[in-house]
Amino acid sequence: MTRRPPTPFAAFISGTGRTLQNLVRNIESGALNARVCQVVASRECPGLEWAKAHGFPAVVRHGVIPRDELAQLMTQSGAEWGVLAGYTRLLDLPDLWQSRFTNIHPALLPSFGGPGWYADRVHRGVLEAGCRVSGCTVHLCDSTYDTGPILAQRCCPVMDDDTPQTLAQRVFEVECALYPEVLEQLFSGRVSIEAGRARIIPV
Ligand code: GRF
Repeated sequence: MTRRPPTPFAAFISGTGRTLQNLVRNIESGALNARVCQVVASRECPGLEWAKAHGFPAVVRHGVIPRDELAQLMTQSGAEWGVLAGYTRLLDLPDLWQSRFTNIHPALLPSFGGPGWYADRVHRGVLEAGCRVSGCTVHLCDSTYDTGPILAQRCCPVMDDDTPQTLAQRVFEVECALYPEVLEQLFSGRVSIEAGRARIIPV
């Protein structure tokens, strides 16, 4: 069977860029058959510097990107998918790009998600609630925070002596495995969404 050409995607970042770096590592190792054709940062940030230093086309767009501008960015870069990788802005998705953007959230949605649930606040919330497991969620984006159809979730334990930082580290390790796996399935298949539930159908 011939391998499909690498799927071009635009990565959206706001912070360290370590999620993007993990995806690039997976591309380089051959685990993820894709290429980063555009990086969009919501502000000046270390991830943007990293992207520029590694030769990725990178732009900064502050605030919520107007629909027309987002559509233009995607089309002009040749992206087939938008992949959020630590992006903290809301998306206003053009019709043609509905169900073509993914996000990863560092908790098991729908718990500990929505406005204000980001970074260490998520892990502090999990610890304060006394949860014995946490994990991460990969989902399709809609135009609100953390509510699009869920594609995959993976758990990890919460330890008695966890701090938000130690839990964040354990969850991030799970994220690093799950996100590229799900993207690879998504890029080589298609998604069916029925009654708000998403399923990846391998072709
Ligand atoms: C990850 O924990 C991910 O779940 C969330 O943002 C974090 C990565 O952000 N969406 P960054 O790459 O460290 O800025």
